Amino acid sequence: MQKGKDKIIIGNWKMNPPTLKEAEMLFFNVRQGTSSIKKTEIVICPPFLYLEKLKSASRRNKKISLGAQDAFWEGGGAFTGEISGEMIYNLGTKYVILGHSERRALGETDMMVNKKIKASLAAGLTPILCVGEAARDESHSYFNLVKIQLEECLHGIKKDLISKVILAYEPVWAISSTPNRHDATSGDCREMAIFLRKILSDKFGSDASKMSIIYGGSVNEKDAFEFLKNGGIDGLLAGKASLDAKKFTEIIKICEASSK
Ligand code: PGA
Repeated sequence: MQKGKDKIIIGNWKMNPPTLKEAEMLFFNVRQGTSSIKKTEIVICPPFLYLEKLKSASRRNKKISLGAQDAFWEGGGAFTGEISGEMIYNLGTKYVILGHSERRALGETDMMVNKKIKASLAAGLTPILCVGEAARDESHSYFNLVKIQLEECLHGIKKDLISKVILAYEPVWAISSTPNRHDATSGDCREMAIFLRKILSDKFGSDASKMSIIYGGSVNEKDAFEFLKNGGIDGLLAGKASLDAKKFTEIIKICEASSK
């Protein structure tokens, strides 16, 4: 884990909630619950549609930033249904989740993620790159699989930009939406975090040490402390738990207390 920088808690709302009113209520409740937070960076990633409204609500709590859940690699033009990094940036949004396993399941490849990272960086956004294996095997081939994902997704990114990328390790087998999922341990997380740091430093040198590595996969208020303390990471990415203001706030408070 990196010393001297704020830890980060990210909420990925995915395709929820169904109405703007509920989105505003959820956001408002998180904002209320975290008004005393000083050291933890909080990022909420709602569906695109809600970003603009929530942006004005986020002005009242400087520790809460907004993120999108995807961004296209082209800057503009005839791309029906797509949204560019520049559009997201121009709304006052700072972050963007890229390469999430749920998007990869719909056909997104490492090459597409790579183009999206480059375009998002060029637009001024902070990409949150998700990597993670679908399953673990006894011969440990999952290490190589994650290595390939990481190398392909970060191919051609300049050293001086790499510290802007946040790396989220999300083992697909631990994500709440995966059928027959099971829990990852802080030990599983720690060994992968060490492995990822080694690849990054081999590839990018000392600049890689400035990158944050976070963990995601059914994180909740009961295991957040253990992951933050023993997982070798700089923060957490919560999906399901981020849709419950009380649970998400609790995770943020646990993170804040763990930074003292
Ligand atoms: P989860 O989602 O916390 O619901 O497992 C995490 C994610 O998919 O980003």
